[in-house]
Amino acid sequence: MSRDEEKRRAALKALDYIEEGSVVGVGTGSTVAFFIDALAEMKDRIEGAVSSSEQSTRQLKGHGIPVLDLNSTGTLPVYVDGADECDPHNRLIKGGGGALTREKIIAAASRKFVCVIDAAKQVDILGKFPLPIEVIPMARSYVAREIVARGGQPVWRENTVTDNGNWILDVHNLRIVDPLGLERELNQIPGVVTVGLFAARPADVVIVGGKVR
Ligand code: 5RP
Repeated sequence: MSRDEEKRRAALKALDYIEEGSVVGVGTGSTVAFFIDALAEMKDRIEGAVSSSEQSTRQLKGHGIPVLDLNSTGTLPVYVDGADECDPHNRLIKGGGGALTREKIIAAASRKFVCVIDAAKQVDILGKFPLPIEVIPMARSYVAREIVARGGQPVWRENTVTDNGNWILDVHNLRIVDPLGLERELNQIPGVVTVGLFAARPADVVIVGGKVR
């Protein structure tokens, strides 16, 4: 089965978790793009969506799905999103698509986080995929030096500005044996907006190519 087909099947399976009449939290990326297309088929049975990116917002609106403000919805029952890596404890690396900050906010504000991936995203130890970190632009070099001091190799994702007007460092050369500890530590560096580690708030359900793991 191709990776795209695995993503499509995972996205379709996620529909099982959508509650009638609810507001759905929607992530970002190619797997989520399949999910949005599938969600459109049942758009009359949901109130709307909270979107994690301008990209997903455009696709949702294109299907006529109302996009709502998280400030007015309260806690969401379900958030559906992809990931770049997923370990056996459902801890994730996210942010390959640059939407990590809004993704982390919506995941935190949701009761259930349903993560949709293809099998290649499953790893024993996180860190082969470069860890995205969103930074305030003026802090880029400072944060990069702090990361080098911790053994990482930050690479500036040039020509990328996030939906929040910030920049992204992709950190190579990390073998993340303590994801929660690293997430907390990196969060403390001034200028860091969001670390693409989802360990404090891991996924509740992981769907791999159509099967719940
Ligand atoms: C975007 C993300 C995506 O969920 C992640 O990059 C996976 O994307 P895809 O489904 O295209 O493989 O975190 O910021």
